[in-house]
Amino acid sequence: MAGAHRKSLTLVSTSPAETRRLGVWVGRHLRPGDAVCLMGEMGTGKTLFARGIAEGLGVPGGRGVRSPTFTLVHEYTGRHPIYHLDLYRLQGEEELEGIGWEEMLYGEGVTVIEAAEKMEQQLPEERLDVVLAREGVRVRRLMLVGYGRRFQTLVRTLAARRRR
Ligand SMILES: Nc1ncnc2c1ncn2[C@@H]1O[C@H](COP(=O)(O)OP(=O)(O)OP(=O)(O)O)[C@@H](O)[C@H]1O
Ligand SMILES: [Mg+2]
Repeated sequence: MAGAHRKSLTLVSTSPAETRRLGVWVGRHLRPGDAVCLMGEMGTGKTLFARGIAEGLGVPGGRGVRSPTFTLVHEYTGRHPIYHLDLYRLQGEEELEGIGWEEMLYGEGVTVIEAAEKMEQQLPEERLDVVLAREGVRVRRLMLVGYGRRFQTLVRTLAARRRR
């Protein structure tokens, strides 16, 4: 996508707790209908970040948030419904159709997708991508990329608040 249609912000985390706190911070800025796509290798902190998002959306302590490895999707109730998907084990298109992703992505909740690259073709044009990478044993780089007007604005807001 052309540079003009995306906006990015890079964050560095030096502990699991910090990654979770960054998730809480982002979660507080989310609204019903938003989609957050988490991408990155195993153990880069996607689930910790997702737990933070749930906490930021009002799930106390992100309680119970863990990877929906076998069911592919977990639903939590915060200020809005939260759909937490982990597509790591997704077998193919057919299985994807079976989980009702359209109702989630275009519904009234917030959708958080781990291993979102598995449904690249179906991802909404308006979304926040968070690309996590390991920089050291306890260091992670998180690149937030906003696509579409809503998420470009969100990333700009986050970047401005980060600087203060
Ligand atoms: N700065 C950091 N941020 C996040 N996790 C960290 C950090 N430093 C170390 N870790 C460790 O990395 C692991 C991250 O686990 P987590 O389950 O969140 O990753 P994941 O990306 O969801 O992995 P998976 O692909 O298995 O779902 C944890 O064991 C955590 O303790
Ligand atoms: Mg995970």
